[in-house]
Order: sequence, then structure tokens, then C-alpha cells
Amino acid sequence: MSKISKIAVITSGGDAPGMNAAIRAVVRTGIYNGLEVYGVKYGYRGLIYDDIFKMDTKSVANIIQRGGTVLKTARSKEFYEKEGRAKAYKNVKKHGIDGIIIIGGDGSFKGALAFSQEYDIPCIGLPGTIDKDMSGTDLTIGFDTAVNTAVDAIDKIRDTADAHDRLFIVEVMGRDAGYIALNSGISSGAEHILVPEKETNAEDIIDSLKANQRRQKLVNIIIVAEGVVSSCNATQLTQIIKEKAPKYDTRLCILGHIQRGGSPTYTDRLLASELGFAAVESLIKEQKSYMIGRINNELKYTPLKEATKASKGISEKWFRLANILAS
Ligand code: F6P
Repeated sequence: MSKISKIAVITSGGDAPGMNAAIRAVVRTGIYNGLEVYGVKYGYRGLIYDDIFKMDTKSVANIIQRGGTVLKTARSKEFYEKEGRAKAYKNVKKHGIDGIIIIGGDGSFKGALAFSQEYDIPCIGLPGTIDKDMSGTDLTIGFDTAVNTAVDAIDKIRDTADAHDRLFIVEVMGRDAGYIALNSGISSGAEHILVPEKETNAEDIIDSLKANQRRQKLVNIIIVAEGVVSSCNATQLTQIIKEKAPKYDTRLCILGHIQRGGSPTYTDRLLASELGFAAVESLIKEQKSYMIGRINNELKYTPLKEATKASKGISEKWFRLANILAS
């Protein structure tokens, strides 16, 4: 086993608050251990086009509190092709990089897995996505901040909903997963939460709204995950309710990318710092490709192959709890 002496750090896919804290942890832990640390700009695209530069401890000063990513990010289609990865390998060799840390979601890890299998370069994945749609970890970097942002926005929406006795449909992010919807919905006392993991019938929602109306409950908030693609997606549901329950004064609010930005919460900064630190130590000691997550407060090292499998669904208990508490 040859010694690791130069490592690279990449942020890939959608940015997530806390990515900067992870970059900072990687750079400072690497330099502390005598390594040279390189930053790669714009995700895998930077590997392919040699947008690679040496970082020092100062280059990550004053970023722990900032959202986005100082390395920039992208979704590189080229890296998913063999030729793209071959170009990337040339640059990795050119700089003498012998280990790579990728902060991103499962799509990014699929690229890392292919790269580490084709070339003898260990890749460590750190789960960084607001969606939390990953196995091998209880939390992903950015999720806590995104949920807090959504809760803050929904609280504000409830103020105006309450003032006008209105019904609001609020769409939150989550391409294939309903974790942001579920967690922000429960935490803001939403009357209904719609997620891609569970089918919901628009008629049932309308029946429940009518029942609420009969008991003078006029202020209702329905949280819909962006990933819901049935007739119950936020825009269609708004339309259906306007037609079938016209007594409700209904408004639609799509929170969108506001959930991706902002200063990371302490939870995200801490997770990112812990995972960034562990990634470097793992590369030095083992030189193997893992995703590092945290489960029940313990670091969890999942082989990259496992980590790219779909995350587990949402337990039925949460829907039951949400229903009972919203009654
Ligand atoms: O990063 C995850 C995510 O924010 C999803 O929740 C959302 O569906 C997607 O990214 C949006 O991606 P883009 O910014 O490329 O439109």
C-alpha cells in the first residue's frame, strides 16, 4: 500500500449548506497530517478540464458559516461516460493525486464508484444533499438547514393564512424523497403532508378539508414534496381544491431554491466538520472507497457500492403521528 500524500476535494451535484464546513475540515485535517490538498472546481467537470488548484489553511478561512460551496458545483454528464473519466484520470495522475473526497449526493457517488473501480484511486463520499435521500447515514449535510428554512417560511405563511382564514398549499424541495416535506410539515403543524413515498388521493384531502370546514377550522396548510408526481402535485392539487372546495380561499406557494441557500445550522456545521475530518483520516489509514455517514451518533463507513443503493422509505409511524397531531 503506497502512502497517501496528495488528496483532492470536490463538491458535486446540488449544493447544500454545510459543504463549505466540510471542505474546510478536509483541507485543515489534510494539511495537519502533512498532505497536499487540492480543490477541484465545478464538481467532476473540474477533474475533466483540469480546474484543480492547491489549497492552504488560509484558503478555507471564514467559510464555515457560509452556504453554497466555495469550490462551486455542477452535475457533470461527461463523468458518467468512460471517456470523461479517462480524461479526469489523466489530470488526477498529472497532479499526483492519490485519494479523492467527494461531497455530494448518490448520483455523485455513482460516478465516484465507477472511477474508483476503473482506476486505483480511493474515493470517499460524504453525503451532502438537502434531500437526505441516502442510505448509510441518519443525516446528510444540508438537510437540517433546509428543513429549518422551510419551517421558518411555513411559520410565516401560517401568519398570513391565519389573518385571512386561508388554505395554503406549500411545495417544498425533494426530487425523489419526502423527508423535507415530512420533517418541516410535522414541525410546523401542517394539516396534510404529501410525499412521493406514499400515495395520496386528492378526494381524501378534499373530504378532510370539508370536515375541517364544518368544525370551523378554516386555516389549513398542506405541504407537498416537489417529488410528488401524481395528480396530487402542488399545482394540480391547488387547482382541484379550487374547483371542488371553492369555499376555501386557496393559495399556492412554491418555496424553491431558497431552501438550498443560507448559513448552515450548527447541526450541519458539526456533521460536515466530523465527516470531513473522518474522510481524511480514513484515506490515510485504509485507502479504500467508502461513504462516511453517521448513524446513532457513531460514524458509519459504508462501501461506496452499498451507498449508491436507494435509501429506505419513510416509516408509517410518522404519517400516523402527523395525522393525529394535526387533527
Ligand atoms: O439538491 C437537491 C435538489 O435541491 C432537489 O431537492 C431538487 O429537486 C433539485 O436539487 C433541483 O435541482 P436544480 O437546482 O438543478 O434545479
